[in-house]
Amino acid sequence: MSQPDQDRTTINSTEKAVTETLLSPRFYRTDYAALDKIDVSPMRREWDAMMGEFDVDANREHFRKEVKFDAARMSPELYAEFQDFLVSSITAEYSGCVLYQEIEKNVDNPDVKKLMNQMARDEARHAGFINKSLNQMGLAVDLGFLKRSKKYTYFAPKFIYYATYLSEKIGYARYITIFRHLQKNPERQFHPIFSFFEEWCNDEFRHGEAFALIMRADPRLLRGRNKLWIRFFLLAVYATMYVRDHSRPELYNALGMDPTEFDYKVFDITTAISKQIFPLTLNTDSPAFRSGLENMLRLNIAIQESKNKGGWWQSVRRIGLSAQNAFYFAKLYMLPVKSNELPDTVRMEPAW
Ligand SMILES: [Fe+2]
Ligand SMILES: [Fe+2]
Repeated sequence: MSQPDQDRTTINSTEKAVTETLLSPRFYRTDYAALDKIDVSPMRREWDAMMGEFDVDANREHFRKEVKFDAARMSPELYAEFQDFLVSSITAEYSGCVLYQEIEKNVDNPDVKKLMNQMARDEARHAGFINKSLNQMGLAVDLGFLKRSKKYTYFAPKFIYYATYLSEKIGYARYITIFRHLQKNPERQFHPIFSFFEEWCNDEFRHGEAFALIMRADPRLLRGRNKLWIRFFLLAVYATMYVRDHSRPELYNALGMDPTEFDYKVFDITTAISKQIFPLTLNTDSPAFRSGLENMLRLNIAIQESKNKGGWWQSVRRIGLSAQNAFYFAKLYMLPVKSNELPDTVRMEPAW
């Protein structure tokens, strides 16, 4: 590929990564002074064991391997969805990297500083690795530009803990489910990046463990009114994933997976893991939950179609659709949840 072509594809995929939609991974800022005051001493034994694993850095060589990739095997539709999948994945990885780097830079607390340094190291590797794959497809995301031009959302520390814990654990659940599925169906592995998911997801699992210990060290985060926030974040993360995965039919078709089945499996794994720290879980198997998610999916498809059509009438129509979407979210939020008694030890093994 000539240099101008290369530049153009970098610009296109960077633009894609910068585009802000409700479902896109976000970049965050937070109250660094509050994070500086985190005291992990109630969880010291488990914390030190976890930091020992970060020090071992078992995946040091894993992401240095070369990936050879042939795009000719993909239909244009699959190519577009796979590219979209990689761009949103790299944005999510890099958003974690930037958040952890910023926290590291802005705190003196040695426990928090070291943890953030190690997690930023992992996420930088993950993002760099995806960029290598994008490069081979003749695309790339300019990460420096992304860092400068993405909009940043301020989140209070406790929201960072709930949201980041969940995104790390759901990331683990997604990667391991795809990896296990392709182990059983190797003919479906249309890109070598999937063969890296097993070690990769163990990094994400450990990042989630760190936030579990931080939350457990301050039990106020897990009781009273905060339970309503935990419920909110669980639902928001699950619903977002459901809508996004169903917007990539070709990708799941190529993998030989049904996105609905895949998502419910990921919900089950994430729910089982989250019992280590959250005092409640969502009842994702109830028919009311399933039909609520289907309603949100239907509305999000209608909103997207209306955006594609454009025009003032469609803008008016979208107000109604968005209101209905909010109504279904609220209805899902009101469904009964299961309460969960927290175990004595927080940490668990990635056993899926
Ligand atoms: Fe990552
Ligand atoms: Fe992570």
